[in-house]
Amino acid sequence: MNVELILQDPLTVPSPLLVLPLPEGTETLEGALASADALMGGELERALERKDITGKKEETFLLFPPKGSGPERILVVGTGKGDEVDAEVLRRVFGRAVRVAEGMRLGALSVWVDPGFSLSEAAYAQAATEGVVLAAWSYKELKTQEDPDDPDTDVTHLSLISQGDEEEARRGLLIGLAQARGENLARTLQSRPGNVATPTHLGEEAKRLGKEYGLNVTILGPKEIMDEGMGALLAVAQGSEQEPRFIVLEHRGGEKKDPPLVLVGKGLTFDAGGISIKPASGMEDMKYDMSGGAAVLGAMQAVADLSLPINVTGVVPSSENLLSGKAVKPGDVIPTREGKTVEVVNTDAEGRLILADALSFAQTLKPAAVVDCATLTGACVVALGYQAAGILGTDESLVQALREAGDRSGERCWPLPLWKEYREQLKSSVADLKNVGGRPAGTITAALFLKEFVGEVPWAHLDIAGTAYGEGKLSYHRKGGYGAPTRMLLEWVRSRVA
Ligand code: BES
Ligand code: MN
Ligand code: ZN
Repeated sequence: MNVELILQDPLTVPSPLLVLPLPEGTETLEGALASADALMGGELERALERKDITGKKEETFLLFPPKGSGPERILVVGTGKGDEVDAEVLRRVFGRAVRVAEGMRLGALSVWVDPGFSLSEAAYAQAATEGVVLAAWSYKELKTQEDPDDPDTDVTHLSLISQGDEEEARRGLLIGLAQARGENLARTLQSRPGNVATPTHLGEEAKRLGKEYGLNVTILGPKEIMDEGMGALLAVAQGSEQEPRFIVLEHRGGEKKDPPLVLVGKGLTFDAGGISIKPASGMEDMKYDMSGGAAVLGAMQAVADLSLPINVTGVVPSSENLLSGKAVKPGDVIPTREGKTVEVVNTDAEGRLILADALSFAQTLKPAAVVDCATLTGACVVALGYQAAGILGTDESLVQALREAGDRSGERCWPLPLWKEYREQLKSSVADLKNVGGRPAGTITAALFLKEFVGEVPWAHLDIAGTAYGEGKLSYHRKGGYGAPTRMLLEWVRSRVA
């Protein structure tokens, strides 16, 4: 996506489509809306009077200005009540505008950065850019035939038009662009099927990011993983022909001595469940079991892209979880990097195993905080559905900061407790702990399992099983990977920049 900032009256800028947001209940048209109405000889005003358009969320109304005007078309998009307009409302509004543009086979649109809402110029420009860039993304790499239901024109050009503070508008644009590009990378990686996006492939992509964005990248293969003592990652990988990878990406934007923030993402490139095999129906979605890892790669790209003045390290343990004569079996006891032994009661609870070794590794980086994200439990989807990730952690203020980052980014999370009483469910008669705690409180016992491997550092875990991918109900989503929680991680990292 090509994005530019134009400082001019929006009605004078040549454009195939100018997008103007309209708050619900607007009585007197102001700013660019008033200019658009004048250009249209009062047609917008009349449409409002007739209630052809009311300003309800994502309602759209198209105007065709006279020949020779700046914009060839004007798209008015409802925002809902003006005082309820926040960044997420704007992402959806401008995502809707992209869908309308696609329907008309338009490759470019311009957006008015409206000073009328309670958002700052920068926050508005960021949200608008995110909405457009996220909505315009699609995954077409593996299609060889044109899909008649899919537009053959992608929106590839965005002009943000502002008459406000140029510096602020540009800052918001750059942040929004980097965050959306990071999230779009995560989506692309998620979308790639298991036979393409193998652990080796994720490692190669990390190396590419290293070259293109100046990240320090280290990839461990089976031998180095063995040398690190990562018995849990090896146990999960041993049933597969694909080699595991342990991926580390470092962004050194802060002082050398500053402890890094560490982002850990589950990179399970296909989860068949192992010997505790999953039912066939819907199993294809388990290619998305690397969504946490994809979000960490996307976030690291954006952190480097923005040259954030802070140290951030991304860690992605990556493996398949398959069945074979070599696969780990229910009842097997395995060693972990941390030293604790684990009884693998259910081989389908593999995410917590590979994360255990990753979290234990993360401690060696002497981090300021560790945040992991993982499609970890179906139980989290039962608890919170598709609206929020579960968040559990050892540090109240870290959890609070992530909740706020979630609210700002539109990728929300909601807390569950980590009370020690639940730990009983993980007791094993043969090992230090077992990898499953039964059906009750499945998300909590999974997080308590992880907590055994984080040591003393402030840590929070995001269970994204219900939020990382889905049917694509939002205007800026499509069916498949959403890239979440890339934006949330980035909002949090940016909030930590002094
Ligand atoms: N990757 C799954 C969790 C998952 C389920 C993600 C549904 C997205 C949608 C994870 O590895 C898993 O299989 N978890 C088991 C744990 C159980 C065996 C304790 C689950 O949730 O059923
Ligand atoms: Mn599983
Ligand atoms: Zn899994």
